[in-house]
Amino acid sequence: MKYSSQRVAYPYLLLAVALFALQIVLGLVIGAQYVWPDFLKDVLPFSQGKAIHINLLVLWLLLGMMGATYYIIPPESKREIHSTKLAMVQFWILTIAGLIDAGYLMAGFSEGRKYLEAPWPVDIMIIIGALMFLYNVGMTVLKSEKKTSIQAVLLTGLIGLSVLFVFGNVMVRNANFSIDQYWWWWIVHLWVEGTWELVVAALTAYVLMRLTGIPRGHIEKYLYLEVALVFLTGILGIGHHYYWIGTPKYWMMVGGFFSALEPVPLALMVWNTFQHLKESKTVPTNKVALNWLVIAIIGNFVGAGLMGVVHTLPIINQWTHGTQVTAGHGHMAFFGAYAAHIIAVVYFVLPEMRGVTNTFDQRSGMRSLWWMNLSMLFMSLTLMAAGVVQVYVERISGVSFMLVKNTYLTGWMIMRLVFGLTFTVGVLEFVYDFIRISKSKPMEQTLQNIVTGSFSSSGGAAATRR
Ligand code: HEM
Ligand code: HEM
Ligand SMILES: [Fe+2]
Repeated sequence: MKYSSQRVAYPYLLLAVALFALQIVLGLVIGAQYVWPDFLKDVLPFSQGKAIHINLLVLWLLLGMMGATYYIIPPESKREIHSTKLAMVQFWILTIAGLIDAGYLMAGFSEGRKYLEAPWPVDIMIIIGALMFLYNVGMTVLKSEKKTSIQAVLLTGLIGLSVLFVFGNVMVRNANFSIDQYWWWWIVHLWVEGTWELVVAALTAYVLMRLTGIPRGHIEKYLYLEVALVFLTGILGIGHHYYWIGTPKYWMMVGGFFSALEPVPLALMVWNTFQHLKESKTVPTNKVALNWLVIAIIGNFVGAGLMGVVHTLPIINQWTHGTQVTAGHGHMAFFGAYAAHIIAVVYFVLPEMRGVTNTFDQRSGMRSLWWMNLSMLFMSLTLMAAGVVQVYVERISGVSFMLVKNTYLTGWMIMRLVFGLTFTVGVLEFVYDFIRISKSKPMEQTLQNIVTGSFSSSGGAAATRR
């Protein structure tokens, strides 16, 4: 770590990891409620548990992206962050906003905009936090001598996602339900299939460059092409959410065609990354971070691209809309594309911050990687299969929703819970690893401690063993 202001990334990543763990606890509760409907029903009804599960998801991913940005923007700009004080004030505003939102949802309230059920004062706090963030990052970039395409793509993504939040969340207050839905998709969809893709593309480019030593020029060559393609397909692909909410019919054609093209830029990213890896001359020491990064790229293609495209055409979506097929795609896409990306960045940042990139023990990281990824793959496949059964029995044969849920789907829901539990094993190991690496001491410091005789802490001993 070259710049001391990069340290502000730590509280953001710490909170992101803590909220990820909390999100999973809630996932287990609502997953259990699918199997035993009375489980904790008076303490945390399904509707509230699910709202908190997915609100936390959005919050921790955003915090992760902010932490990652604060970490990579100083070396990219070759200067310290404009104001670390502002970054910390922003951190506390967002933390308090998150706490108020959790309390509001726990108390049984909801604004009804899925993923964004927070009350409006919280929305305002989030907007203030986002503006502080953009100002801070923007000033740092503006003051840098040489502008890079990584800075440009990252900033475009961050500005875009903030603007969309304002459009979809504030402008439509008290609007008619259809209008509200229309703009609401601008947030969730144009985030995950547009602006967030830009943010993670820039993060990938930077981390890949640093982990493997590939020259900047090679990486930048494709960055703009991917970005242009993501934008083209993502913005018009939004039509796949307009089919059934009362928008004009041409959206069926536009949405069907362009969203079917969405896997193209994602496939290009996979191809590109493997190309870069082949070109890289050095053997990367930080294998955990690199493996998570490769998984994120493949996960994006499989979860978003493939599992998205199979239900995106209107003739298919008319049957699968809002079934477990959607949930299967949602889990694999969010986890594969975004959660995995943030975890990759965490594994890149933490060891570097502690000065132990070449020495830290990677066994725990690799174990949690396997637990989480295999579990999520099987969990989403289970949900997709349950969705197909649901389509046949409920949508085609006309058996009622509750009867299908309580009988035909039970086996699949038990399987989902089992994979949820194995996923949790991976999360626990990841949290343990996060704390362990946070506490580790760099080798030089450990050696110095031995020389000066002040060598006593267990953290130091662990670092020598590595
Ligand atoms: C990383 C990118 C993506 C993420 C995180 C993601 C996530 C999600 C989630 C969570 C939903 C459920 C929304 C709800 O709560 O109602 C959804 C719906 C949907 N997604 Fe994606 N998605 C991504 C990319 C894609 C792509 C590339 C396609 C098409 C090729 C696609 C096709 C769809 C369709 C058709 C629906 C609507 C399902 C329905 O009608 O119930 N998604 N997506
Ligand atoms: C222990 C692991 C997990 C379990 C047991 C679990 C369980 C659940 C359950 C039961 C739902 C409600 C689905 C419905 O309304 O029918 C849900 C929704 C959702 N979860 Fe999870 N979840 C877990 C982990 C995750 C992870 C890691 C992510 C993403 C990174 C995630 C993202 C989502 C999303 C986006 C939805 C909304 C999907 C939709 O409504 O279509 N979950 N989860
Ligand atoms: Fe979409």
